[in-house]
Amino acid sequence: MQLSERSKNYAFSGVRAVFEKALQYKDTINFGIGEPGFSTGQNVIDATYAAMNNGATKYVSNAGLQPLRVAIANKYRKEQGLDCTTDNVHVFNGATHALLMAMLCTMDPGDEILIPCPYYSAYIGMADVACVGIVDVPVYEKDRFHVKAANLEKCLTPKTKAILINSPSNPLGSVTPPEDLKQIAEFAVAHDLWVIADEPYEALLYDGAKHVSLGSFPGMAERTVICNSVSKTYAMAGFRIGYCIAPKALCDQCTRVQSSMISSVSAPMQYAALEALTGPQDYVAEMVAEYDKRRKIMVEGLNRLKGFSCLYPEGAFYTFPNIAGTGMSDQELAFYLLEKTGVVTVPGSAFGKYGEGYLRVSYCTETEKILEGLDRMAKLLGTK
Ligand SMILES: Cc1ncc(COP(=O)(O)O)c(C=O)c1O
Repeated sequence: MQLSERSKNYAFSGVRAVFEKALQYKDTINFGIGEPGFSTGQNVIDATYAAMNNGATKYVSNAGLQPLRVAIANKYRKEQGLDCTTDNVHVFNGATHALLMAMLCTMDPGDEILIPCPYYSAYIGMADVACVGIVDVPVYEKDRFHVKAANLEKCLTPKTKAILINSPSNPLGSVTPPEDLKQIAEFAVAHDLWVIADEPYEALLYDGAKHVSLGSFPGMAERTVICNSVSKTYAMAGFRIGYCIAPKALCDQCTRVQSSMISSVSAPMQYAALEALTGPQDYVAEMVAEYDKRRKIMVEGLNRLKGFSCLYPEGAFYTFPNIAGTGMSDQELAFYLLEKTGVVTVPGSAFGKYGEGYLRVSYCTETEKILEGLDRMAKLLGTK
């Protein structure tokens, strides 16, 4: 039997390719991972069991559980000053699903979306499903990897229908500051573009960086689809709960599409997300403080390596060191490190053409492992 050409040509994540290769090695240290290195809060686990014991085992509303939508609308009203209600909230299977639905509901086949590059590689597959073209917009190290409206402007084409902004960024760890976001918002309004704001790392911020949602700028409420989830902030990636905040018409359209795609999102997991959003929040601050320690150890260690230079990331849990000084390409270096030391990193080019010459090195893992991985890298590459 023949498999469809469409599925055969579907983009395969460059990050997965590295992980599959890493499976062949023993005693690896994984700096490639993009998953919180913490356990989910016990209050969240308890709430999941309680929901199941109380009968949350049936189909629920396509748009998501009402109390969860209320909690999400409250969060955005309080934290970002958005004038939103539950009509503006839709629940999905993670931010991944929210992003796909945002693309499907804002663009038609043949339209184009501007995405600052390097970017989260899953966008490629999503754009494939939505049959839209990605235009890679360069993001530069000299700008501390902040997204600049002028670079978006240079890449605009008559087919551009939307832009996607991810801040804090995976893989860059950068947080685009409010003054740049304001210019991006003005650019979107001037060219009447949709904006997909991918914000699952919003709570992981360091050195005083501030997360301001693109949806909060003037003229943006009607054109922005904020995509977020509980995966990173609450170490709940396996629960698969995400959501969007968007104009009511777009949420209604999502309900229509979702009804035949997945019907509804898992009921007990939505109760778990409700507990995460409305329960004690100290856990998040503790986690961020621990990531911050790991971040400093990682950046200091990377900057000691011969041929490496690494900015201090302002958010998320990734560093994106420039490895041009090693004389190797990012692909060569990532595989050399894996083969010789068992340290797993991801070549920057797995995140698009402007990622060449960099590695993505995450610091989700425990401090002892970070120190051990850095030590192995230093023994192989030498120090300055
Ligand atoms: C930038 C970015 N967006 C979206 C996601 C998807 O997150 P989830 O589907 O777990 O909410 C990820 C996950 O790594 C990510 O890095």
